[in-house]
Amino acid sequence: MEKEDVLCSVRKYVYEQFSSDPTGHDYYHMKRVAHWAKEIALDEEADPYTAELAGWLHDVGDTKLYDDTEAAYRELIDFLTSLEVEAQKRRELLTIIKSISFSKGQIPATIEGKIVQDADRLDAIGAVGIARTFAFGGMRNQLIYDEAADSLTSIQHFYDKLLKLSDGMYTRRAQIEANQRHAFMENYLNQFYSEWNSAERAGEHNDK
Ligand code: ADP
Ligand code: NI
Repeated sequence: MEKEDVLCSVRKYVYEQFSSDPTGHDYYHMKRVAHWAKEIALDEEADPYTAELAGWLHDVGDTKLYDDTEAAYRELIDFLTSLEVEAQKRRELLTIIKSISFSKGQIPATIEGKIVQDADRLDAIGAVGIARTFAFGGMRNQLIYDEAADSLTSIQHFYDKLLKLSDGMYTRRAQIEANQRHAFMENYLNQFYSEWNSAERAGEHNDK
């Protein structure tokens, strides 16, 4: 099968698996990661086809989203085989998919793996990253913010993860984009606290 046809079939496969995900791991997350993976790969003179394919597929089998990870990987391998993707390419893609998640803390071995990880991390920051964080936090029953306690809130997640991501980019193109998104998040937090604390400043209420 031609590369364009493989990409088209993979896009449809991803749409079927993720179109209704409400946690920030929806089809459009995969589409943005695929887009940025290709763009960064071109800038790095890496393999844009592998990077884009792995971008589309990077969240298949993720333990947060799938009850049976191994079954999801097996199904993906069968699907790629049906598209006549060669065994070596299938192994390369699976290795990338298994190694990119932030929570797993691994450094992907290949440049294409590092590129997909950068693209995934870009989508966790900036305006879209902020939206995904609150969607994910709501799904987990987390508070938006708690000024009284050091608990796991969506705002706390900025400090636990989001504000650290721009320091860990591997590629030049992702670094440029991450710097801009990082600055946007800092502005966002300033505005957030300003609005949140407006009632506080008026001093009209006792919280407890
Ligand atoms: P990955 O993209 O590798 O699956 P995560 O599961 O950590 O990585 O992140 C998925 C999305 O959910 C990101 O946008 C991330 O910021 C958000 N997220 C992860 N953990 C939390 C949390 N405890 N609170 C709010 N958002 C979170
Ligand atoms: Ni992702």
